[in-house]
Amino acid sequence: MANGGLAGFTLRELGLGARLGLSALLLVLLGGLAASGYHLVEHHQNRDEQPGVSLTDIQGAYHGVQSPALLLGALERGHPEGLAPAERTTLLTWLGGTRISEDYDSLELGDAAPAELLATRCLSCHSRAAVQGEHKDARVALEYWEDVARVAFSKRVEPVPLKILAASTHTHALSLATLSLVLGALLLATRFPALLRNGLCALAGLSLLADLAGWWLARGSPAWVVPIVVAGGVYATASALSLLLILLELWLPRRAA
Ligand code: HEC
Repeated sequence: MANGGLAGFTLRELGLGARLGLSALLLVLLGGLAASGYHLVEHHQNRDEQPGVSLTDIQGAYHGVQSPALLLGALERGHPEGLAPAERTTLLTWLGGTRISEDYDSLELGDAAPAELLATRCLSCHSRAAVQGEHKDARVALEYWEDVARVAFSKRVEPVPLKILAASTHTHALSLATLSLVLGALLLATRFPALLRNGLCALAGLSLLADLAGWWLARGSPAWVVPIVVAGGVYATASALSLLLILLELWLPRRAA
């Protein structure tokens, strides 16, 4: 039984010109895949203001994310250990409120003003000089309002507007599904085992469907963020693998009849 795809025909039987042309197009597609990967990192990485693409970045894009202020996070997890509970409460209330800049150095609060508490309880390790010298590990300076303002505000990252999500879906759905239809057809006309050909077709199709559906479902629930990432990875891998197999089919020696 012929191990080729469509009615026993395989791409290796095409003429030289056709094989050259197809190969060039496949290389262009491979370049396109690599560029997509690069674009994805550039486009998403800075949503949480940390380098690299994290789940938080992806969640920010498709669902929105609340990223608590660094200062709030540190105080909530019990840092620094020696801080009196009443003082911690004062700082937490201040950071949780809406008058963070107004009350920072409030005269009415006197010694309980956040600026005073930070000065007496934190600056031994968090003064500008300390974080550049003997307390490098404490990293953030908390000496002036300018320092404090950088870590005092919690941020809400909004997901991309619906209009943009729709535009992105329209280009990706049409172009990627078309790409996968072509790759699938070519892959079916290769000599490789049916399990591999059919399996890659199934993976590409299902993962693309899951990925694009996930973009929309994630607006309602952040539970879809991980599936988006997994499906995207599976789709890219299945597509790259299909491309490589098709290239191999085009240039490996003909199978003995
Ligand atoms: C004895 C030294 C010391 C004191 C006092 C101290 N810190 Fe720190 N702080 C550190 C060190 C060391 C780190 C880095 C390790 C860590 O995150 O626990 C740090 C980290 C932090 C961070 C960054 C957390 C992060 O996730 O990157 C913040 C914000 C912070 N401290 C706030 C404060 C505040 C507010 C006070 C006073 C109420 C304070 N610290 C008092 C030593 C200190």
